[in-house]
Amino acid sequence: MSILVLGGAGYIGSHTARALVEAGREVVVADNLETGFRAAVPAGARFYEGDIRDRAFVDRLFENERIEGVIHFAANSQVGESMAKPLKYYDNNLCGTKTLLESMVAHGVLTIVFSSTAATYGEPERVPILETDRTEPTNCYGETKLSMEKMMKWVSAAHGLRFVALRYFNACGAQPDASIGEAHNPETHLLPLILQVPNGQREAISIFGDDYPTPDGTCIRDYIHVCDLAQAHILALDYLLAGRENNVFNLGNGVGFSVREVIEEARRVTGHPIPARVEARRAGDPAQLIASSEKAKAVLGWKPQYNDLHTIIQTAWDWHKAHPHGYGA
Ligand code: UFG
Repeated sequence: MSILVLGGAGYIGSHTARALVEAGREVVVADNLETGFRAAVPAGARFYEGDIRDRAFVDRLFENERIEGVIHFAANSQVGESMAKPLKYYDNNLCGTKTLLESMVAHGVLTIVFSSTAATYGEPERVPILETDRTEPTNCYGETKLSMEKMMKWVSAAHGLRFVALRYFNACGAQPDASIGEAHNPETHLLPLILQVPNGQREAISIFGDDYPTPDGTCIRDYIHVCDLAQAHILALDYLLAGRENNVFNLGNGVGFSVREVIEEARRVTGHPIPARVEARRAGDPAQLIASSEKAKAVLGWKPQYNDLHTIIQTAWDWHKAHPHGYGA
């Protein structure tokens, strides 16, 4: 029996597909390659190019392959873009998931682990954030992910679907052998943008606001290594395959770093001065997002391996240095 990884050519999807192959699982990857890269798909996985909004394509996956569970990463994930193009996000994230679930129900494949996000919480009531805290997204991306969670809940009640939603905080880092890593176009995330400076692709890093109510005035985030996220997906899948109940888990390190602290650590890792300049706040950024991941640790037995920022940045730097143009190089 195989695991179907939808969006398995993307950043977190490719690291998860790789971890599954390394764990000896049979893996099928499907991706429309809109934001993913064929080169990111591990050699040991069977690859199908297509879109989850295409019912015939999704049906073919379940008919050609013996799928026991699905891990679903196939979605758009840029906060800023979601505000400018909300219907694109409703179409891909929600209509895509609807088509996928219809096909899963029709084929009797009822196990799914899927990518949710800290953006489902919006401005947090408190940190660290618990899974039971208020969910009030402040952007359309988070809204579509929360709606995906709710869609699964109702499909579960009606058709026996079993799901785990994993709410990631700030994914970063790369496979330690630098064979796969983060590659977005355009890039909007802090760490890859910082590393463009020592890579000679950017003069300086912009700090979006230094007047937040935090110790150094810059936003605080919980940075979690992509390989730790990958392991959490495998644990969540096995949890469901063992017959356990639907669930939602935060995935973070439980430690916050400010934008200035991340830049400072990147200077230490790269040995480059990385000039920084303060600019206006970016719309919609909460001051502080830190996860409580105690539930994932207790229930799934998740043990993040990369809990220091230096090593996380080192793996990202090894990847970006070796692949300055991402998969194009
Ligand atoms: N930032 C800068 N300069 C930059 C880029 C980012 O100062 O050039 C700051 C942002 O303002 C923010 C922090 O760095 O305070 C992190 O920004 P990212 O864009 O890397 O990440 P976000 O925290 O905005 O977004 C992440 C995920 C989203 C998810 C969100 C939840 O990437 O998918 O957390 O709020 F929705």
